[in-house]
Amino acid sequence: MINITKQEYQKFTELIFNEIGITLGESKQALLESRFYKRILYFQLHSFEEYYQLCIRENSEKIEMLNLVTTNETYFFREKDHFSFLKKYLLEYRGATKIKIWSAAASVGAEAYSIAMVCDSLLPANRWEILGTDINSHVVKKARMRLYQLTWSEKIPQEFRMKYCLKGKGKYEGMFLINRELAKNVKFQTNNLLEVNYSIGTFDIVFLRNVLIYFNNETRKKVIENIMKNMKSGSYLIISQTENLNGLGIEGLEQVESSIFKVVV
Ligand SMILES: C[S@@+](CC[C@H](N)C(=O)[O-])C[C@H]1O[C@@H](n2cnc3c(N)ncnc32)[C@H](O)[C@@H]1O
Repeated sequence: MINITKQEYQKFTELIFNEIGITLGESKQALLESRFYKRILYFQLHSFEEYYQLCIRENSEKIEMLNLVTTNETYFFREKDHFSFLKKYLLEYRGATKIKIWSAAASVGAEAYSIAMVCDSLLPANRWEILGTDINSHVVKKARMRLYQLTWSEKIPQEFRMKYCLKGKGKYEGMFLINRELAKNVKFQTNNLLEVNYSIGTFDIVFLRNVLIYFNNETRKKVIENIMKNMKSGSYLIISQTENLNGLGIEGLEQVESSIFKVVV
């Protein structure tokens, strides 16, 4: 085993910050060292500097390295209050157009499919659609597979579990699959929140939960302002109940609940 030097670690943290906005302190050094070391062994390299140079040269390896950095913890129906808000919104919605919801930083898709279950239980399939995005290409692939450990289903309300989850058999024992029909209205793609992405369209609700925590204030502001370019006036931004936008100086957002904001521009 070789160790990462202070200088090498600093080069990686700068690269990571510039690419995806995540700020990594010294406390993460040992973790990244062990994750990157596996890639060093795989490519039979001699130092972390060589691995750094490889990431600079080869975009595909840079993406792989960034995949190793992100924290993807998630679960179904995380922060229940947000799903009560969603239900109320859907019941009161009088617009003529399809409701579009974005699960930004979607991880493996538990958030997007939870939203989908609520939408499907209240609206016809042609009245709503969901986009899930994440920087990590591996989690995006997993989200598209819609296959989860059975223990994950415990957080799903029983009526939804019965309706939208298929228990695995044989080689899928201990897992469950999200209903194919439900998944037809849920798409996933990679996306970097540090960049404005007009091509994904405009949304009525954006879930941006449990990701701001990894950014510094400047990056948080940038990310929110980027996202607001994909939101119309009157749409809602939902962040985690453990996060806040205090002191960021973002204009055009009115706080309607502790973690829910309305676009008022
Ligand atoms: C902890 S998970 C949150 C998942 C889900 N929103 C939830 O609340 O359960 C954070 C996700 O943010 C993603 N992420 C981190 N930086 C990102 C960036 N710059 N652009 C897009 N996604 C990013 C990570 O890959 C990770 O999957």
